[in-house]
Amino acid sequence: MNFDSRDRLWIYLSGTAILVITLWIYFVYFRPEWKDYQSDFRDVVAKRFGPDRAREIPSGIQQVWAKDLNRVDRCVTCHLSAEWKGLENAPEPFKSHPREILTKHPVSKYGCTICHGGQGYATDTATAHATTLEHWEEPLLGKELATSYSVSDRKALMQINCNICHRYDAQTPGADFINDAKQLVKQKGCRACHTINGRGGVIGPDLSYVGDKSTEQYDYSHLLGVKSVFAWHVAHLKNPKSMSPESVMPTFGFDSHQAQSLAMLVMSWKRSDLPITYIPGTALGDRPTPEEIAKEQQMQTGEGAFFAKKTCFICHDVSTLGIESATKIGPDLANAYADVQARFGRTLEDFLASPTGTMAMVLSTQIHLTDAEKQEAIAKLKIAYQKKLEQDAKAAQAKK
Ligand code: HEC
Ligand code: HEC
Ligand code: HEC
Ligand code: HEC
Ligand code: HEC
Repeated sequence: MNFDSRDRLWIYLSGTAILVITLWIYFVYFRPEWKDYQSDFRDVVAKRFGPDRAREIPSGIQQVWAKDLNRVDRCVTCHLSAEWKGLENAPEPFKSHPREILTKHPVSKYGCTICHGGQGYATDTATAHATTLEHWEEPLLGKELATSYSVSDRKALMQINCNICHRYDAQTPGADFINDAKQLVKQKGCRACHTINGRGGVIGPDLSYVGDKSTEQYDYSHLLGVKSVFAWHVAHLKNPKSMSPESVMPTFGFDSHQAQSLAMLVMSWKRSDLPITYIPGTALGDRPTPEEIAKEQQMQTGEGAFFAKKTCFICHDVSTLGIESATKIGPDLANAYADVQARFGRTLEDFLASPTGTMAMVLSTQIHLTDAEKQEAIAKLKIAYQKKLEQDAKAAQAKK
């Protein structure tokens, strides 16, 4: 074989071209995304703080090992300046992190995903934020998920994670949705039917660890739109029968904010395997307040003691016998003697012997009444009704 010098040159040139193209493809397609962020970050820092500071920036994959929490988070590979001052108005991922929250939860001990969710081991945005694929175990609780759940505050969903640790706080500064939901649980008396943190009724399921239920355990056949546990809870809280047609859970009339807040709260009720030092208030637990205890004791000794002892007071006032319910889930029983007749066309005796609706659930699952106790209830409700009539008559007199 014999090449002349023109052929040699041609072969040499095309070989070089192929090499250049290959390198270029490698550079564009296979150069990790984070390398670009790290070099952009150096530029940002050089401009603002000078080249010396920029040279101190580490390169390569960065990570935080939160040992006690058993997590390795590489988010800091791109979010390099989480603990820097002076980049508050820089673009993401270079912005300084809001300071106060990290003062209370230092990055070295907490990492990032314990609050934000996301895939800690990943080093590309799509996987780290877990937004490209449906049903990631731990999506970033950030703006994309908030949009798909129609939650107007794009940072709110993170509060689910705050409350895995802060579940025993009455209120947690910075977790407004969760705080609103905790108020509602008290006001509306969810514990009348549900056990929460070991305390409450048994008419509905125990909610203490309901956040551990998986997506597959919910029936989405009645749910319109996005099928997610969050959406199921929101729809169910707004109108329980729309998701569970046989449910005796009342429709409380929650607006969207209230239903979303409660959905976040119930989803935060998970078993946690975190060390106890990461769970504030564990020693205090979740106990009734002194006011609640005093009120109950007072009712135990009055004229309506029967309704306090048998715990009817959780859902019912018996206003003329001094029984006051915090929740008022059922009607005032001062009227029951006549009201049952008017509403159901049955006597009170008959109703208590074979109750319907919520009271069927109450008397079969939560409160057991012997025949003698049913007689006592009827006798007491007659007295309560008698008093009611007298009060009404007096009031009518006073008006004249
Ligand atoms: C490969 C680089 C990269 C990695 C790794 C990365 N991020 Fe980001 N992050 C970005 C960029 C770029 C933005 C701004 C653009 C955007 O919002 O997607 C951003 C924005 C964010 C935001 C604000 C936007 C929102 O959705 O609320 C949060 C919060 C966030 N990242 C958290 C994390 C957490 C937590 C991790 C680790 C699990 C992580 N990031 C890992 C590049 C990265
Ligand atoms: C203790 C919980 C907690 C930890 C740990 C935490 N963050 Fe945050 N992060 C927050 C809160 C709360 C905010 C929002 C503050 C606010 O309301 O502006 C926030 C805001 C952000 C934002 C801006 C989001 C936006 O939408 O503007 C980014 C990005 C972010 N964090 C990334 C990180 C990274 C990366 C780490 C780990 C180095 C981390 N965070 C660790 C609680 C935490
Ligand atoms: C891994 C568990 C954990 C997570 C997640 C967590 N915290 Fe905390 N938080 C703690 C612990 C532990 C303390 C320290 C409590 C103490 O000192 O008594 C604390 C302290 C605080 C404090 C100060 C308490 C006080 O009384 O001043 C606030 C406020 C707070 N956290 C808010 C939040 C918010 C908001 C989030 C979510 C963005 C969050 N925390 C996520 C464990 C956690
Ligand atoms: C009168 C009794 C009653 C009251 C009061 C009540 N619930 Fe329920 N709840 C039920 C029953 C029964 C079910 C099971 C049937 C169903 O799914 O609706 C249930 C189901 C639930 C579920 C679904 C549990 C699961 O397995 O996923 C949640 C969450 C829930 N309730 C939250 C609440 C909250 C929050 C409140 C207070 C605002 C409340 N409930 C008040 C009776 C009640
Ligand atoms: C978990 C909540 C709850 C508890 C506890 C409870 N009830 Fe009820 N009760 C209700 C609800 C809700 C209704 C209304 C049912 C309906 O309209 O179908 C009701 C209705 C009644 C009625 C009919 C009242 C009327 O005016 O129509 C009577 C009587 C009654 N309950 C008696 C009792 C007695 C006695 C106890 C205690 C042994 C008790 N209830 C405990 C929730 C409860």
